[in-house]
Amino acid sequence: MSQSLHPMLNIAIKAARAAGAVINRASLDIEKVQVESKGVNDFVTEVDKHAEAVIVDTLLAAYPGHGILAEESGRELGAKDSEFLWIIDPLDGTTNFIHGFPVYAVSIALAWRGVVQQAVVYDPNRNDLFYASRGRGAYLNDRRLRVSKRLRLADSLIGTGFPFRKGDNFKRYMKMFEEISQQCAGLRRPGAASLDLCYVAAGYYDGFFETGLSPWDIAAASLIITEAGGLIGNFSGEADFLYQREVVAGNPKVYGQLVNILTPYTRVIKEDDKAAAPAETRPDATDAFVASADQTPAAPAEPKPRKAIKVSGPRTPKQR
Ligand code: IPD
Ligand code: CA
Ligand code: CA
Repeated sequence: MSQSLHPMLNIAIKAARAAGAVINRASLDIEKVQVESKGVNDFVTEVDKHAEAVIVDTLLAAYPGHGILAEESGRELGAKDSEFLWIIDPLDGTTNFIHGFPVYAVSIALAWRGVVQQAVVYDPNRNDLFYASRGRGAYLNDRRLRVSKRLRLADSLIGTGFPFRKGDNFKRYMKMFEEISQQCAGLRRPGAASLDLCYVAAGYYDGFFETGLSPWDIAAASLIITEAGGLIGNFSGEADFLYQREVVAGNPKVYGQLVNILTPYTRVIKEDDKAAAPAETRPDATDAFVASADQTPAAPAEPKPRKAIKVSGPRTPKQR
């Protein structure tokens, strides 16, 4: 990259590489890593915690007044009232890591007033550093990234993530899977959402969709995608996706085709009251997310019935 990096991006890269070193060291003797279960099929290791501590220490040493939202410590650390919020997944793909399956990453985003400004996703296995600053393009190591140019879903390679936690809606996912797998050239599920999304930015995939993801899985890669010319949103194609637990991304053409298929499956409730309320009375999305995650970690509530738009065939609400 010819131009110099934004100082906040530089710090994020330093933190991501330090976490990557912790992860790589631990991967040399994976049998020794202590694994705890957060719930059925939901694991955390001492490596996740150590990597997170290294990241948070690095960020707060440089920016002590900033806020932190991190997968393992939530909002416990950092300032509570800052307009800057670092959104961190110290080890995305823990299940892969535990098994020695070499697909996992460190994901760090910096949001200012709720909008991601700086982003890093670091794959310590391949030493691949994906990064972006808002308005300055997305990069993989020294290479500028562009999404693919493929026009038709029928020719596209699509990434996804299967539901795997207790309380996930498997039936709903299987319907989406059935529809999309029959309309694309191939579906892949490697197991680290942040990397999946970066692969859309790099043009390896033409699109991606998943449900149940948290802000730390997607925040950094969302900027990397848009800076690479791609689109990312919720299943209705709206840009307000960070805290909504459903995400679709792609090059602009394929994104549109995926949104057409996925819109009927959205769980996002349009709350007219919420939109009408003055901004200062609305709960902060970050805190609302953390509070709801604390209460219902694995099973988000069923949505109210919602009017579907454009479907590819007749479908009743019962089928979803
Ligand atoms: C998981 C990975 C996986 C996705 C899960 C995430 P974690 O993150 O991104 O691909 O399907 O929903 O929770 O728990 O390994 O950090
Ligand atoms: Ca994750
Ligand atoms: Ca994680």
